[in-house]
Amino acid sequence: MSPARHVVGVALGDRTYDVQIGPGVRHALPEVVARLGARRAAVVSARPREWTPDPGVPSLFLPARDGEHGKSLSAVEDYCRRFAEFGLTRADVVVACGGGTTTDTVGLAAALYHRGVAVVHLPTTLLAQVDASVGGKTAVNLPEGKNLVGAYWQPKAVLCDTDYLATLLPRELTNGFGEIARCHFIGAGDLRGLDLPEQIAASVRRKAEVVAADERDSGLRHLLNYGHTLGHALERATDFALRHGEGVAIGTVFAGRLAGLLGRIPEARVSEHLDVVRHYGLPTALPSGLAVPDLIALMRLDKKATDGLTFVLDGPHGAELVTGVAETEVKEALSTMPRST
Ligand code: GLY
Repeated sequence: MSPARHVVGVALGDRTYDVQIGPGVRHALPEVVARLGARRAAVVSARPREWTPDPGVPSLFLPARDGEHGKSLSAVEDYCRRFAEFGLTRADVVVACGGGTTTDTVGLAAALYHRGVAVVHLPTTLLAQVDASVGGKTAVNLPEGKNLVGAYWQPKAVLCDTDYLATLLPRELTNGFGEIARCHFIGAGDLRGLDLPEQIAASVRRKAEVVAADERDSGLRHLLNYGHTLGHALERATDFALRHGEGVAIGTVFAGRLAGLLGRIPEARVSEHLDVVRHYGLPTALPSGLAVPDLIALMRLDKKATDGLTFVLDGPHGAELVTGVAETEVKEALSTMPRST
């Protein structure tokens, strides 16, 4: 095995699987398919056909498109109908290749088809490699909101081929760094000195630990949403002009400010939030033209906010969920944020 290849296990009993990370790991696909004993594969890909290696069994190639518009129940239905036409059985395998919106949608189709067929993810964006494709959350959007229909459906393997990342536009790469930056504050340690495959592996390793402890998001898994309360609000307030990772980055700076204001962390640790986010070349400032009451209203809609304004905040014992934060404190922390001009 190449020394550049990292293997991280997600320990979930009989649903345990490996995430392989490194250049060229996509070529492990036929080996994974053979291990599963699948006789056919349906490959759903938002990338050119040649980006997915031959799975080694008769296969159907279905083109997909990355993007929130493609995360729909009608896409899930289309995929499942094509699987059925192809004669895919519950003993076969679905392969998803693309960004997080593709792995989310194809993952849900795999969860539903024949009440569950094996899925292998080949994430091609940094965001999907460090977060979306690992941990078994699948979902599509409804007109009423994002990710409203989904299932927990763990993949059988995830192949994070870092060769794919060379094709990303700089802003797409930055988007993934938002999730890497927030790992600094949720127990992954300081990843700044590592090379990119090591940063991905360390982020996945931390996610794997959290998912193994709380697969269904009833406690510890909230940690993965560090910086996300404001991050999601900013995405929505800017009509998604701000990318997810950019929102998380600004939300991480804010989480530091709020934790400092609440006396949970010293000033040096507050500044560390800004330093880390800056290090990854991410935005740190609140976009101009956004009204604080609107941001607060959006933060109240956060899925964690079942008991008042709720944030994952750093503290003496590390990050934890903090409920019922007073609106005055949130306003004050927002007022200390850098603003873009
Ligand atoms: N992206 C957050 C989670 O997987 O729980």
